[in-house]
Amino acid sequence: MAESDAIDDLLIEQRKFPPSESFKKRTLVAGTHLYDEASEDYESFWARQASELVTWNTPWHTVCEWDLPFSKWFVGGTLNVSYNCLDRHVLAGKGDKVAFHFEGEPGDTRTVTYSQLLDEVQKFSNALKSLGVTKGDRVNIYMPMIPEAAVAMLACARIGAAHSVVFGGFSSQALADRINDAEAKVLITADGGWRRGEVFPLKQYADEALQSTPSIEHVVVVKRGGNDVSMTAGRDNWYHDLIAKADPVCPAEPMDAEQLLFLLYTSGTTGKPKGIMHTTGGYLTHVAYTHKYVFDLHPDEDVYWCTADVGWVTGHSYIVYGPLANGATQVMYEGVPNFPANDRIWSIVEKYKVTIFYTAPTAIRTYMKWGVEEPAKHDLSSLRLLGSVGEPINPEAWMWYHEHIGGSRCPIVDTWWQTETGGIMISPLPGATTLKPGSATFPVPGVGAEVVDDSGKAVSRGGGYLTLTHPWPGMLRGIWGDPQRYKDTYWSRFEGRYFAGDGAKLDDDGYLWLLGRVDDVMNVSGHRISTTEVESALVSHPAVAEAAVVGANDATTGQAIIAYVTLVGGASADEQDLRNHVAKEIGAIAKPKTVYFTPDLPKTRSGKIMRRLLRDVAEGRNLGDTTTLADASVVSELQKRAAEAPSED
Ligand code: WT7
Repeated sequence: MAESDAIDDLLIEQRKFPPSESFKKRTLVAGTHLYDEASEDYESFWARQASELVTWNTPWHTVCEWDLPFSKWFVGGTLNVSYNCLDRHVLAGKGDKVAFHFEGEPGDTRTVTYSQLLDEVQKFSNALKSLGVTKGDRVNIYMPMIPEAAVAMLACARIGAAHSVVFGGFSSQALADRINDAEAKVLITADGGWRRGEVFPLKQYADEALQSTPSIEHVVVVKRGGNDVSMTAGRDNWYHDLIAKADPVCPAEPMDAEQLLFLLYTSGTTGKPKGIMHTTGGYLTHVAYTHKYVFDLHPDEDVYWCTADVGWVTGHSYIVYGPLANGATQVMYEGVPNFPANDRIWSIVEKYKVTIFYTAPTAIRTYMKWGVEEPAKHDLSSLRLLGSVGEPINPEAWMWYHEHIGGSRCPIVDTWWQTETGGIMISPLPGATTLKPGSATFPVPGVGAEVVDDSGKAVSRGGGYLTLTHPWPGMLRGIWGDPQRYKDTYWSRFEGRYFAGDGAKLDDDGYLWLLGRVDDVMNVSGHRISTTEVESALVSHPAVAEAAVVGANDATTGQAIIAYVTLVGGASADEQDLRNHVAKEIGAIAKPKTVYFTPDLPKTRSGKIMRRLLRDVAEGRNLGDTTTLADASVVSELQKRAAEAPSED
């Protein structure tokens, strides 16, 4: 029996995967010593990571100052993030090492070494200075996935300006809102970028935004798409012109450990976007440490590829700052996974002999839909470790990833974290943790996490709310311009604890399982059922690639479960079959009332399923805010069908 009735615990997963002997032979951490050390004294543990993994100009005098809910880390210390990511590697003789193997969507490639990256960052830092950017200013970045995006971020860090990256797929309105909230002085963008075989006109969108962004004094435009753009004299500058005339030397200035490094706006699924604030010393320590140990990084052998966009926190922490601080060699890919064909990702893995691959469950389920023959076209034997982030990974998607991408040989690190946490919080250590498909397992050493019930009491088994119990170095320092909202959103629900907004459960072995956002939990006849568990039950049917479920108002049961299901390419299944399958897997109470088949699900641009919209559809309401939706036609199609189909019992 569960101790708490906050959220039911329905799905039981018994499969276990201990680290293999061959993986253990060369892993950084095979035993429990990091856990032991951190549980003794987490502050000293983080302090050791900070001194081992980061180079400081001045040592700190206090590891952590905690004035709930505001923390400062490595107080009194100074350092420069760009020095840590670039100069120190070059000074150590690694200047010729590849930082990025860049692959453009059209097939063009560039190899960028650490010394080339340092040269470019120094020049661009001077260019930003020449445009009037000084320490403490905000700079907006609105770019495709090209090396210049990393250059722009690192140049800001070098001179102490905070960047605010807005995903290149966002609209002009979203860009304008974020520029205005941050009062950014400069916007760095590109003429256009490649997406699905075409150039998307970024500068044109930027120009629309710039009509209502009075704080912007200058615009920098990288030439990438080659499309026509209009340049406003006195305001707009070509990146290559600025670089050509820039002074090549820009020494890295030591920054205070708590200097604002960046803002990153997160909307969740509703509401005014929040400018999440991250600072310098603690953040860099957190991302360098987790990147090293969670990905078991061997910087001189591994080729690491994180498929995220720099517009998301994953791109900040696990493409730019963590990997570069650790001197990793990476792949950076500009485009979509299905251009020119559905095997593009696997052809890149083969081409660069990628060893560590980090992607999102939404991508994995898409690959499942495209079929096993796509990865089978390529030699993926270079892979030794896989990662997942962004949503709960359904056990069956985990198994597919393990078998068809990892050749049943690669551990999978399912990493739970948030824009707000800055870096990975809950994840296996691949050489030390026995994995269970679908479980993010345990907090990483140094992190405190507990599942609590409605009254905030920790539960040792069963479902509840995921909370973090003590500060950590990468934690957000607040919401830009709105400290009250920071307190209300994260620190008011459970006293003294950070509330993540996610449901979670603990199994008999103490493993953590993420259950999705608590706002999405369904209440059927008084049972609190997680969307994740019902979706995982659906995905465990061999014909199902992806599923989303929502609770819609129901006169009899309070809410009834409505399922939206996408089938594996070429497969078929009927509604009754799937309803019975769920009943068999997790119980009759979780049986969907209605199942709709759909070729696609509505998702945010970062790939998260928008259950709120599906609830609107299921309850026949007009749609609320759809601005964060990646493809609006998916929902109108579902609405049409909901209107036509009588719901069945
Ligand atoms: C939310 C944070 C973290 C970088 C990308 C997303 C969900 C994230 C997992 C995971 C289950 C996960 C949570 C979280 N989430 N990773 N491994 N298992 N859920 O950052 O956009 O700030 O979203 O993503 O719901 O709260 P984000």
